[in-house]
Amino acid sequence: LANGLGSTPPMGWNSWNHFNCMIDEKIIRETADALISTGLAKLGYEYVNIDDCWAEISRDDKGSLVAKSSTFPSGIKALADYVHSKGLKLGIYSDAGYYTCSKKMPGSLGHEEQDAKTFASWGIDYLKYDNCNNDGSKPTVRYPVMTRALMKAGRPIFFSLCEWGDMHPATWGFNVGNSWRTTNDISDTWESMISRSDQNEVFADLARPGGWNDPDMLEIGNGGMTKNEYIVHFSLWAISKAPLLIGCDVRNISKDTMELIANKEVIAVNQDKLGVQAKKVRMEGDQEIWAAPLSKYRVAVVLLNRGPVRYSITAEWDDIGIPPSSSVVARDLWEHKTLKPRFVGNLTATVDSHSCKMYILEPVS
Ligand code: DGJ
Repeated sequence: LANGLGSTPPMGWNSWNHFNCMIDEKIIRETADALISTGLAKLGYEYVNIDDCWAEISRDDKGSLVAKSSTFPSGIKALADYVHSKGLKLGIYSDAGYYTCSKKMPGSLGHEEQDAKTFASWGIDYLKYDNCNNDGSKPTVRYPVMTRALMKAGRPIFFSLCEWGDMHPATWGFNVGNSWRTTNDISDTWESMISRSDQNEVFADLARPGGWNDPDMLEIGNGGMTKNEYIVHFSLWAISKAPLLIGCDVRNISKDTMELIANKEVIAVNQDKLGVQAKKVRMEGDQEIWAAPLSKYRVAVVLLNRGPVRYSITAEWDDIGIPPSSSVVARDLWEHKTLKPRFVGNLTATVDSHSCKMYILEPVS
């Protein structure tokens, strides 16, 4: 969407994967504080996004959405002011239907202009727009109504389409929003994570600066996968130019989780200004090579082992788009090491089960 936002994939946090409907303003404030104190904000995690269940079930007498008084007594404007005072941005959630998915608050269908104005007046910076309980009309009809309402609301608001991929929003999302879901909801398991990554890859050609494919939010830190599986999760999301929205409780974050989501070198791949989503350039059974061009003629590569045993995996220059006889300097983004010697023609590495290696390759001659 040409609203000047999303020139690189959005980074931040969202309440849903960890807290579900059990949210309140204290959690949101403390999360903003934690993004600062952990240093995550400095790495680019700037959006603090409230998901479903933040509003009263009834609109006020003027038809406006109101924050739930039992859990958000200070109101959303005060929360936005607080988050902004920390140099962060506030995101909110609504739905292109009569009720949101939880059925615990109203949706925006038929109230798009009013709600967009309300969000803008509160100082909202990001809107996630869900698809539950709608009138059965096409999302290609309902979503652009909110796009136009946001454009009229007088504040730049990142617009995240949460249509779950049913009507292939990747094929129409670019003129409607800044990101669009390509899958239904992720859960905190290897199978769920890897299948969402696969479904998202199909639409790689349709992502670009201003509009990104969204395979759903991160589960890292929620406990359902091994450390190596979470490394795969972060590597694939980064190289796929997916939104990096942390989905765990950052107020109580472990050292292991920090080490993953604070990996500057992997984040830099995600935020590279070329904005090209990775593709699987070779698949052999459980072994896969993912590659994406980066700025300055570099290439990001993931060697992925989806299987139960260790493999030696080789990336060939031919597959990843490097001229055949080029000599290449390889940087290992998880070991934080530049490998010696230089590589010519290909690069081979041993990769454990449910694990990956991630490199930036830089041709030097
Ligand atoms: C469905 C979405 O896909 C989830 O990410 C979350 O927003 C829930 N709805 C909230 O009800």
